[in-house]
Amino acid sequence: MQLPLIDTFGRTHNNLRISVTDRCNIRCFYCMPAENVQFMPRNDLLTFEEIERFVRIVVPWGVDKLRLTGGEPLVRRDLPVLVEKLAAIEGIRDIGVTTNGILLAEQAQDLYDAGLRRLNVSLDALNADKFREVTRRDGYEKVIEGIHAAQAAGFRPVKVNAVSIRGITESEIVGFGHFARETGCEVRFIEYMPLDADAAWEREKVLFAAEIIEKLSQELRPLVPLANQDPRAPATDYEFDDGVGRIGFIASVSRPFCMSCNRFRLTADGKLRNCLFSLEETDIRALLRGGGSDAEIIQAVRDSILEKKEGHEINTARFVQPARPMYSIGG
Ligand code: 5AD
Ligand code: SF4
Repeated sequence: MQLPLIDTFGRTHNNLRISVTDRCNIRCFYCMPAENVQFMPRNDLLTFEEIERFVRIVVPWGVDKLRLTGGEPLVRRDLPVLVEKLAAIEGIRDIGVTTNGILLAEQAQDLYDAGLRRLNVSLDALNADKFREVTRRDGYEKVIEGIHAAQAAGFRPVKVNAVSIRGITESEIVGFGHFARETGCEVRFIEYMPLDADAAWEREKVLFAAEIIEKLSQELRPLVPLANQDPRAPATDYEFDDGVGRIGFIASVSRPFCMSCNRFRLTADGKLRNCLFSLEETDIRALLRGGGSDAEIIQAVRDSILEKKEGHEINTARFVQPARPMYSIGG
């Protein structure tokens, strides 16, 4: 292996998140606008061959972990074919997909058979009305069906991501606690971040991890942090005191984990982003399509990582929300 992708703060980048489409079949308010979404023209999307070439270029530099995201990745045709291509690359240790679950019942088995083992399903509510309030679409039953299909296909554990939003999530907390205990899914609460297309985020609208931990501990059972956690992982995981039911927290706002970040991102239209919140991008697609050599491409990746800032500034007055909302970055 050659020199790792290390930035000026000593962070090593082994974890690449690849968005495969910006399209989505629902419209979560913390991500997309309600109407008139301008999706990328199809020719702008990287092909599976282009994605595979890029991954093969970065793997010798230490990238061993991939996650496919969207938009909604399962609306990209033949996603299992891409999973299979990427799983076959020597050096890739781990591939995950983050999906909204709407199409999961149809595709869970094919994804598992293609070599996928990690699956995160986004679900913010445990009833159809609240689901519709958040996503502006129907589909709650489909997502639940998808989660069951994923478990039947062999995914263990299925992780369920719930964005935690003040005024929305409070009523779901105890239900999610029971859900984790009954289904064996690990529920992870993700603090609402300023990446919504409507730019309506305010710090007051974030429901903080500490508040959820307190509510679960008081109204369900005490939560205890798991021992031996990877301090680099963004999630802090807990278990109920009787050992049944896992709950994780991604406290991006109340407890930023930027100093241990190992991630970088490729958007569906082939732009490299060194941070969710970065204001600059590197045009990898132009290199891929313009005859760029492997050496030129890895140099562009290195340059981007060297430019990475110390961390997001969500909690400061200096914060500037990136022009790309979540659905076109990939989460
Ligand atoms: N804040 C926090 N999480 C978000 N997600 C999408 N938008 C936001 C936001 N503004 C989550 C999705 C999904 C993952 C990709 O990111 O719910 O689980
Ligand atoms: Fe779609 Fe995911 Fe954005 Fe929700 S958060 S609208 S599921 S891309």
